[in-house]
Amino acid sequence: MKPKKEFLESGFLMSRIILKNNGALRGEVTVSGSKNSALPILAATILTRGKNQLWGIPALSDIEIMYTLLESLGAELLHLSDHVLIDTAPIRSHTTPYELVTKMRGSFLLAGPLLAACKKACICLPGGCPIGSRPVDLHLKGFAQLGASITQEHGYITLACEKLTGAKIYLDFPSVGATENLIMAACLADGETLIQNAATEPEIEDLANFLNRQGAKISGAGTDTVHILGVDRLSGCSHTVISDRIEAGTYMAAFAISHGKGRVKNIQLDHIRPMIAKLREMGVEIAEEPSAVLVNARKKLRATNIKTMPFPGFPTDMQAQFGGLLSVAQGTGMIVETVFENRFLHVGELQRMGANIRIDGRTSVVQGVGQLTGAEVQASDLRGGAALVLAGLCAGGVTKISGVEHIERGYENLVGKLQLLGADITLED
Ligand code: UD1
Repeated sequence: MKPKKEFLESGFLMSRIILKNNGALRGEVTVSGSKNSALPILAATILTRGKNQLWGIPALSDIEIMYTLLESLGAELLHLSDHVLIDTAPIRSHTTPYELVTKMRGSFLLAGPLLAACKKACICLPGGCPIGSRPVDLHLKGFAQLGASITQEHGYITLACEKLTGAKIYLDFPSVGATENLIMAACLADGETLIQNAATEPEIEDLANFLNRQGAKISGAGTDTVHILGVDRLSGCSHTVISDRIEAGTYMAAFAISHGKGRVKNIQLDHIRPMIAKLREMGVEIAEEPSAVLVNARKKLRATNIKTMPFPGFPTDMQAQFGGLLSVAQGTGMIVETVFENRFLHVGELQRMGANIRIDGRTSVVQGVGQLTGAEVQASDLRGGAALVLAGLCAGGVTKISGVEHIERGYENLVGKLQLLGADITLED
C-alpha cells in the first residue's frame, strides 16, 4: 500500500473507463476495507499523539488525501505491505490546508480530534459538493455544547477551548459525520457526554471500537444513544477496519445487472440487509454464507420502490446504483431520496444511455427499458459514477465514462476487480 501522491499534484483527470457488454459476470470478488470507516479512524489517530497500526485501509484517492492532511499537520506515516503505521506524536499544526480540505468533505472529521488533542482546530470550510449543500452546523452546535468557542473568518472555522466538558447533545438529524466528530471530541472531555439521535451506521461502531481500544470509554455506538465517559489520555493501538458495505452492494448489483452469478466475499451480512432485501424483491437469488453472499441473477429483474434512510434503512450511497438496475428492470420503480437534496446527477447520463427516468424533486420514477445503449457519459460524483459503470455492463455497444477521478475516490481497483469477473473494461489514460 504505497501512497500515490502524484494525483494530488497532477490531477490525473483525463482517464476514461471503456466498457463493452461482455455478458454475465462470474466468479468471486473480495470487498476492500470501508472508506467511510477508514476516514474517521485515520482522523482519530490524532487523539493518541502516539503510534497506531491500521489494517484494511483501502487504496483510494480520498484516503490519500487524508494521509496527506495528517502529514501536513506533522504526523509521520509508514506504509507497509498490508498496513499503515501512523505516529501522531510529532503533530505541531492545527490548521488544515485549503487545497486538501476542498478536495474532500471528509476532511472536516479532523475538527473533533484536533480540538480535543490540541485544544485548537483551524479547519477550512469544506464548502458545497455536487450532491447538496452539506452544511456542518450540527458538528459546530455539538462542539459549542462541549465548550468550544467557534469563530469563522476568511473561509476558515477556528475552534478553541481551554478544556472540553461533557454535555448532553441532541442531534436534529442523525448525521454520520457529526456523530463521529462529537464522539472523538468527547473522548478527552471532562465528564460524561450523551449523544442522542446519533447516527447508527456500522462505521460509527467501528470508530468506537477503535477508540475503546485506545482506552476510550464509549458505549452504545451503533444505537441512537451514545454514551462517552471522558478519559485523560488515549494510547496507540492496532485495528482492522470493517469491510465496505457500499462496495459490497455495488458488486451485488453488478452481478444482478449482468444476469451473472458469483460470490461477494468479506462482508458482514447485517451491514448489507437493505441491499439483500431489495435485490430479492427484484428477483435476484441471494444465498447467505457466514461472510459472503452468493448472488444468482438468472431471472429477469423486476421493478421495486426504494426510499433512502439513515442506517439500517436503504443507504443513500446505493441509490444511484439501484437507479441503474431499475432502468433495465420490468415495470416502473420509484426512488425517494430523503438524505441528500441533489443526488440524481447521474440520471441525465443514464438517459443518454436510453434510460426512461423522470425526476420530480427528491423522487425519481424509473420505467424499465428492454436495453440500454452504450454512450459517452460523464461521472460527476462517486456513486453516480458507479451507476454508469453498472449500466455499461449491460448496455449494447461501447460505454465511455469520463470523470473517473470521482469513481476512484471510493472503489479500490474497480476496473481490475470487474475484469476478474469477466467484464470487458479498461482504464484509458
Ligand atoms: C457520510 C458518508 C457518506 C454518506 C452519508 C449518509 C463518510 C465519509 N461519508 O457523509 O458517504 O452518503 O454519511 O449516509 O462517512 N447535515 C446537516 N448538517 C450537518 C451535517 C449533516 O444538515 O452538520 C445533513 C447533510 O447535508 C445531509 C444529511 O445531513 O443532507 C446527512 O449527512 P451526514 O450524515 O452528515 O453525511 P456525511 O457524514 O457528510
